[in-house]
Amino acid sequence: MNLTDLLNKKIFTKNDLITLLSLEKESDMNLLFQKADEVKNKYCGSLIHLRGIIEFSNYCRQDCHYCGIRNENDDVNRYRMSIDEILASAEMIFNAGIKTIVLQSGEDTFYKGTDIANIIRTIKEKFDVAITLSLGERTFEEYDEFKKAGADRYLLKHETANEKLYSEIHPHQKLAERISHLKYLKSIGFQVGSGNIIGLPNQTLSDIADDILLCGELNVDMASFSPFICAENTPLSYVENCKLDLALKTSAVARIYLKNVHIPATTALSTLSPDGRKRGLRAGANVIMPTYTPNEYRFNYLIYNNKPGGSEAPQIKLDSLYQLFDELDLAPSGSKGHSMKEAEV
Ligand code: 5AD
Repeated sequence: MNLTDLLNKKIFTKNDLITLLSLEKESDMNLLFQKADEVKNKYCGSLIHLRGIIEFSNYCRQDCHYCGIRNENDDVNRYRMSIDEILASAEMIFNAGIKTIVLQSGEDTFYKGTDIANIIRTIKEKFDVAITLSLGERTFEEYDEFKKAGADRYLLKHETANEKLYSEIHPHQKLAERISHLKYLKSIGFQVGSGNIIGLPNQTLSDIADDILLCGELNVDMASFSPFICAENTPLSYVENCKLDLALKTSAVARIYLKNVHIPATTALSTLSPDGRKRGLRAGANVIMPTYTPNEYRFNYLIYNNKPGGSEAPQIKLDSLYQLFDELDLAPSGSKGHSMKEAEV
């Protein structure tokens, strides 16, 4: 089958996904990216959703082999933002016209479920925004508590659908457990985000195809595929960064397969190349997640090396983002950008 026919198929097999992920010729990859852009326009239009991230604590009980803020890394200055600092960042996000606030942290058990619920309630009382939580694994009771407090979404990447690889790089965790959390979150009404890291050692294109298929099986509302970038002082610090082309191909194939989901042009894409995010937005992505963590903390939230988002004021970053949107005939959505699957529920 020629590439155009393959791209126009209605139903894709796992082998189709692997074939698409294997494309190497520039002209072939461009056809894939164009198709992903078409599918994105059909299902998401030309509006890009912005999500403002607050990385409010870098304490973590986990030891993920790829992650710079893993528990065993003693070289990290650990911090927790106060509630007033969190609210000040939330206000900046809201005043910038961004209608989703992502509360992200390491797996920090210092916060009890009630503490997180209080943060959610306080933000919701003050600002008309959607809240996404990205806190790692918590108990099912806590997920209930967060939902009741008004949280809208939960981002919990499965990282890799290869069970063996998952266990190798997550010393205290099991893939089956992760999946049961994702299913539970979905069952209690969270809009759920998952996704993988691309370019892990010993990961194959078949594994990456499985990551995309798993997102489909879980019926996720958002799927994030981040290129692996090595982090200092981690067991994987010797591993080469993911190639930009593979990262773009993964997002594009995911768009073509998953269709009506939100897919971010990840921050990690900009680390691989100055035009990484732009190329992501042309290859199926429809979400950008700018960081609003205060400067005094963000340099301690280095989940990988050279994480961008430097010392520029958020407004300057937004201005350059809006310029990029103009260039690509895109525009910021201005809405909360809820799941595109709501109508199906
Ligand atoms: N490279 C790319 N992504 C990473 N993450 C953590 N460490 C790395 C890394 N070295 C991603 C994981 C995690 C998210 C917060 O950041 O997917 O879920």
